[in-house]
Amino acid sequence: MSNSTAIQLDHIDAGYGQNQVLHDLSMDVRKERVNCIIGPNGSGKSTALNVMNGLVSPWVGTLTIFGEDATDSTPREIVERGIITVPQEGNVFPDMSVRENLRMGAYLEREKSVLQERYERVYEMFPVLRERERQRAGSMSGGQQAMLALGRALMADPQYLLLDEPSAGLAPNLIDDVFDHLERLKSAGIDMLIIEQNVRKMLVIAEYIYILDQGRVVFEGNKDELTDEDELVELYLGRRSV
Ligand SMILES: Nc1ncnc2c1ncn2[C@@H]1O[C@H](COP(=O)(O)OP(=O)(O)OP(=O)(O)O)[C@@H](O)[C@H]1O
Ligand SMILES: [Mg+2]
Repeated sequence: MSNSTAIQLDHIDAGYGQNQVLHDLSMDVRKERVNCIIGPNGSGKSTALNVMNGLVSPWVGTLTIFGEDATDSTPREIVERGIITVPQEGNVFPDMSVRENLRMGAYLEREKSVLQERYERVYEMFPVLRERERQRAGSMSGGQQAMLALGRALMADPQYLLLDEPSAGLAPNLIDDVFDHLERLKSAGIDMLIIEQNVRKMLVIAEYIYILDQGRVVFEGNKDELTDEDELVELYLGRRSV
């Protein structure tokens, strides 16, 4: 494990009931680069992410976070270590206001001045959220809700962000917006791992890529190792590129 490792999965088997999803999965997720996971539906991308955030307990293998064993840590303990997740679904509370949603992101923080700094940081990055802070989250567009989900994650002052398909279910014009938001996070120096089906867009932001298939890493490497000519691109990316 390198010093710059944020999250390490070491020989992980995991699944649900009798159904094994991850098979001997090892990943060394480094800080200071945007990491992406791609792969077919059902290949175990969300499951791998949910091992990292403690929602799925490994059957075998170890989870290490910032150099400390976290295999038996609860999701809350992992949040306390600064690993913050934006889940694939249900990532805003529609009946709460924008500001209340943001407040939920910082639920571990009680210090008023710290909270104020967090709101400011989010509002600087996403000014629309300031304009709409009193508005019901559910009344905003899908793209704005996706922005709010990112803002809420930022409120936790993440050491590392895990994003499960942040552009899922959005119309193509809104997908561009989400990638703009992600670029803003990247420019602000936020370290993150993104699961993304939208390969062409992902290739713009990603620096390091994992391809998962049937619960195994079938490719990992820097983006420039992945060219359009690659057989892997044909196999795993070609059919889902847009
Ligand atoms: N909570 C669960 N209970 C039982 N089986 C599950 C659960 N979550 C996922 N699975 C199964 O585990 C396998 C991997 O699912 P997972 O959600 O990790 O894949 P994914 O790569 O994220 O897929 P997608 O691209 O559709 O989001 C699938 O066969 C799925 O049906
Ligand atoms: Mg998934």
